[in-house]
Amino acid sequence: MSVERAGLDRAGSASGGVGRGGLVAIRGMAREAVAGVLRRAAVFEAAAASGGDVRLAPGRVLANLFFEDSTRTRASFAVAAQRLGMGVLDLPEQGSSSAKGETLLDTARTLESAGADVLVVRAKAAGSAALVARSVGVPVVNAGDGRHEHPTQGLLDCYALAKATGRASGFDLSGLRVAIVGDVLNSRVARSDVHAMTSLGAEVVLVGPREFVPRSLGALGCSVSHDLDGLIGGMDAVQMLRVQFERHWGGEEKGRGAWSAASYRVQYAMTAERLARLKRGAVVMHPGPANVGLEIDGAVFSDERSLVREQVRGGLYIRMAVLAGSLGV
Ligand code: CP
Repeated sequence: MSVERAGLDRAGSASGGVGRGGLVAIRGMAREAVAGVLRRAAVFEAAAASGGDVRLAPGRVLANLFFEDSTRTRASFAVAAQRLGMGVLDLPEQGSSSAKGETLLDTARTLESAGADVLVVRAKAAGSAALVARSVGVPVVNAGDGRHEHPTQGLLDCYALAKATGRASGFDLSGLRVAIVGDVLNSRVARSDVHAMTSLGAEVVLVGPREFVPRSLGALGCSVSHDLDGLIGGMDAVQMLRVQFERHWGGEEKGRGAWSAASYRVQYAMTAERLARLKRGAVVMHPGPANVGLEIDGAVFSDERSLVREQVRGGLYIRMAVLAGSLGV
């Protein structure tokens, strides 16, 4: 066994906090399981920095089933699998037999029969990944299902936040106050963030207009506010969300009904003025992709308080940890 492999085994449980069935949701995961994934990601990151061999799953195959657009998640899973020594089968909706009417389940079962060892699923409908997981005999990882969850995003957001706030030794986020701002109602990222961050001890407040942040979202285990300017100075982190136009009404209306992009920007955008009101040491996050000029200004991305690049960078190690755990290696 190589030194690097021994290090990986010492990182925690053999599964790194994820069971062999894969990962469909953060909700219901024990704190120790969430922290276990982050710890294992840190070991993978350290191994990468020292040039260690982390090919724990040579010859195994990941199948990317993406039935919604993606850049970060899809690329990150592909690179994570390659770093683990796996082969990658990348199946877009267009160009596969789903364009001829084959269902997601039939596609998943076909790829299992074709030799895939783990399926990564992104789909428009909430519950899709769970449905696939119940229908195949290989691990399934949810890469975002409708408005439900995007678990690896929630984990990578915690990873970036913990590192930026000096909490990467134990991944304990107790005492941190995090605002998640924007189109929460339509966001799977927000749901996974709330579950992951509160599980690790952070206090989370959801912020946005009533149309996007109804009081009922407090049932997730966090508080709700419509007043970003009233609370921004007390936050340790502010996660800006993309306005999910594709999930609004008919899919393309910008400003239909009570919601207006112009007033949204005035009240909730991360601008240079709001950036200046953050307390010392506070950070800004965005899962991407962003509506630049609507929920966040372009200049924010290059500010030293922005974690956006770190979120993407750390996502690689989170996905390595999740894949390794799912495969039991
Ligand atoms: N954050 C995220 O899920 O980005 P992609 O849609 O590009 O994968």
